[in-house]
Amino acid sequence: MSVSASAPGKIILFGEHAVVYGYPAIAVPVTQVQATAEVKAGRAGFQIRATDIGGEYRLEEAPQNDPLAAAVRATLEQLGASPPPCVLSVRSNIRVASGLGSGTAVSVAIVRALSGFLGRPLDDTLVSDIAFEIDKLHHGTPSGIDNTVIASRTPVYYLQGQPVQTFEIGGPFQLLIADSGVACPTKATVAEVRAAWRSRPDSYEALFQQIGHLVDRARAAIEGGRTGQLGRLMTRNQTLLTQLEVSSDHLEALIQAALEAGAEGAKLSGGGRGGNVIALVQPETQERVRQALLQAGAVNVISTWVNGNG
Ligand code: MEV
Repeated sequence: MSVSASAPGKIILFGEHAVVYGYPAIAVPVTQVQATAEVKAGRAGFQIRATDIGGEYRLEEAPQNDPLAAAVRATLEQLGASPPPCVLSVRSNIRVASGLGSGTAVSVAIVRALSGFLGRPLDDTLVSDIAFEIDKLHHGTPSGIDNTVIASRTPVYYLQGQPVQTFEIGGPFQLLIADSGVACPTKATVAEVRAAWRSRPDSYEALFQQIGHLVDRARAAIEGGRTGQLGRLMTRNQTLLTQLEVSSDHLEALIQAALEAGAEGAKLSGGGRGGNVIALVQPETQERVRQALLQAGAVNVISTWVNGNG
């Protein structure tokens, strides 16, 4: 017997970093990339096989902070179950430390597959809560937006400590997601922003507030199908992220290239410094923008439509 589950990647459309400080943010799932976990009945022991991302080892040998083993242990604890004899195989085509939620997607896939294998599939809220605990191992003080959007598989407007808010997409819109090729763990930029916020609280709070305001305007524009306004809001959000000092020359060059090639707006997405840039495009500009991003040094560009269907 075997049970499989998968989980998508994610991008933050608006509001990264400020969301850690209690301001809203908007994130959407990216189904073109995914993590998959399969639990297959075995003869003895609990074997973890994650050749591409973590290696191959037995559950009881894994260190306490191993994120895959931590997802397994948290699921077993939630269900009050002991480790079944099985092989857990994990695969992911979401590049690690690229801002697409790779670690979170792996946790979500593991929790779903293992709870399903044990005959007691956990609901989205519990799956999300467990993934949140594991995210703390990856990035210290996560806001909770990554686990929320990946477990719910739908666009979310997220505010820490509040129930998940899904919202209408008034009109579909297309984004290109360009991988800068520079890995930058979210933990690093979140910690740097925290240090800067501690030393300059007033200017950082003011920037977070402006970002929060932008997020609300973006939500209204998305709900109203006024996608023509989104590009400007994205580029404005990028300016504020640059002021938070989480951008880089390489990301700025990618953003500039996308805008010059006809994107209506562009920004970094996620922790920043490296990871991904997102650009708002039209069907007639997408190829030109894609080529411009590649020429400016993006290592991969994927296209996604935000249409509310996850
Ligand atoms: C990471 O996808 C987004 C950040 O805002 C961190 C977080 O919300 O946990 C940078």
